[in-house]
Amino acid sequence: MSILESILLFLHMLGLAGILAGFLMQVMTDNPKSVKVLLHSSLLQLVSGLLLVGAIEMGDLGELNHVKIGIKLLLSLAVVVVGIMNLRKPSTRLATIAGVIAVVNIGVAVFW
Ligand code: HEM
Repeated sequence: MSILESILLFLHMLGLAGILAGFLMQVMTDNPKSVKVLLHSSLLQLVSGLLLVGAIEMGDLGELNHVKIGIKLLLSLAVVVVGIMNLRKPSTRLATIAGVIAVVNIGVAVFW
């Protein structure tokens, strides 16, 4: 694993933690900052994921399952869209939907 791939995976894991932290913050405390934690983390997750694909493909660092990546991309975009809706009109229901989609995406990443 190259250092670039490790750094991107590190950011990818921070993004994942941030999405779940934002979701839990909003559901448990309704802190007004939680919507931004959730949205910014979902963007970090999306960007770091796309850069990871680029680093792995360009550096010839391994075989990627493109169907799996495509599904992760769609789910990740869904988290961003729900995060934007949640920013416009915060609701614990939207935060929960974003959190659940992110957890499904962890399942896709780990079990596929
Ligand atoms: C909410 C969104 C996402 C979550 C929760 C998530 C979660 C994860 C997790 C837990 C890993 C580590 C798994 C492992 O290394 O075995 C991982 C790795 C990875 N993710 Fe994501 N991810 C998300 C979005 C994305 C997106 C949008 C892309 C690219 C389009 C992406 C591309 C990758 C790649 C290339 C790896 C490393 C190689 C691999 O194991 O497939 N991820 N992701």
